[in-house]
Amino acid sequence: MSAEPSVEQVPIVEVHGAATDPVEHARFDAFAQVFHDATRHDLGDADAWTADELRAVDADLTKRRVRLAALDGHVLCGSVELILPLRDNLHAAYLELAVRPGHRRRGIGTRLLEAVERIALAEGRTSLMSDTAWLPDAAEEDPSGHFARRHGYAPAQTVRRSDYPVPDTDPVVPPAPQGYAVETHVGTPPEADLTDRAWLARRMSTDAPLGDLDIDEEDWDEDRVRALDARLETMGRGRVGAFARHLGSGRVVAFSEIQVPAASPRLAYHQDTLVLREHRGHGLGLVLKLANVPVLREAFPEVRTVRTWNAVENSHMLAVNDAMGYVTSGFLREWQKRR
Ligand SMILES: CC(C)(COP(=O)(O)OP(=O)(O)OC[C@H]1O[C@@H](n2cnc3c(N)ncnc32)[C@H](O)[C@@H]1OP(=O)(O)O)[C@@H](O)C(=O)NCCC(=O)NCCS
Repeated sequence: MSAEPSVEQVPIVEVHGAATDPVEHARFDAFAQVFHDATRHDLGDADAWTADELRAVDADLTKRRVRLAALDGHVLCGSVELILPLRDNLHAAYLELAVRPGHRRRGIGTRLLEAVERIALAEGRTSLMSDTAWLPDAAEEDPSGHFARRHGYAPAQTVRRSDYPVPDTDPVVPPAPQGYAVETHVGTPPEADLTDRAWLARRMSTDAPLGDLDIDEEDWDEDRVRALDARLETMGRGRVGAFARHLGSGRVVAFSEIQVPAASPRLAYHQDTLVLREHRGHGLGLVLKLANVPVLREAFPEVRTVRTWNAVENSHMLAVNDAMGYVTSGFLREWQKRR
């Protein structure tokens, strides 16, 4: 006879990043660890946010986060984070859900999902979004997709994960196209460009292809950018960035940023890259991405890989990545359920 408890006996509890009680604090660490263990199992490496990064993210007042965990005795076996935007996209809710590999197919994922879906519905959210991932050579494409479909989610976008092996020597960086200057920085970008960065962040939220995802433009201003900078500082994220300044207007019209998490100094993440629509077609995307490489090599010599995610239909960005030497290292599917 199996000693496993039935899923109804697996309690679901809320976990809090701000908890100071040692048991609650450790439980939050275990909550974050589930995402690492699930990613290692599904994608080959522990590629998720650390507990301390999640704690730092709580300073973001533009979103409310509800975090639930499933407990099998002393083992925290499943985690879900529900993210409710508060400043824009009030119709939307995002969720990150993972169940420890050894605890799957016992109904735990379903219970966690149903618990956060109830909260999202009570908050009036009509579009729920989540994602699944798999390796290019996986025995089965998107195994967790069965779960999403079973719960009424439809595929909304497919995303390619790509890895850039940092070269041993600096790549050749082409000169800035005529009419533009390329500027690079390490750490928090210059205060003088806050207004332009707020505009770029606003445009970034909808200028990249969104597939069928029901996402509206995000409401960014200087204070929101400042708050983001402060959070990244608290997280201990290293930053390398390149701006393209349009010489005619003096405005920053394109940017590209790499972040280096304190917990993974060898694996960096290519965050957003955006060239405003009206400045496309001059090769700025490739110039900016290449311009970051020598700066990254000098400021963060430990970094071996830069990782990025792009929609498969984002042919221009993928062409830039391919030209630089990025290689496909996984796939992700965005799922959406509309009520
Ligand atoms: C997706 C995930 C959360 C499911 O957790 P779980 O606890 O195994 O889910 P459940 O036991 O509640 O599964 C419910 C149903 O989903 C379907 N399902 C779940 N995983 C499946 C798989 N690998 N293959 C086929 N069907 C699957 C089945 O219909 C299952 O019912 P059944 O076991 O009676 O056949 C888990 O596999 C996981 O952590 N995956 C990685 C993270 C992820 O993709 N999260 C996003 C989910 S939208």
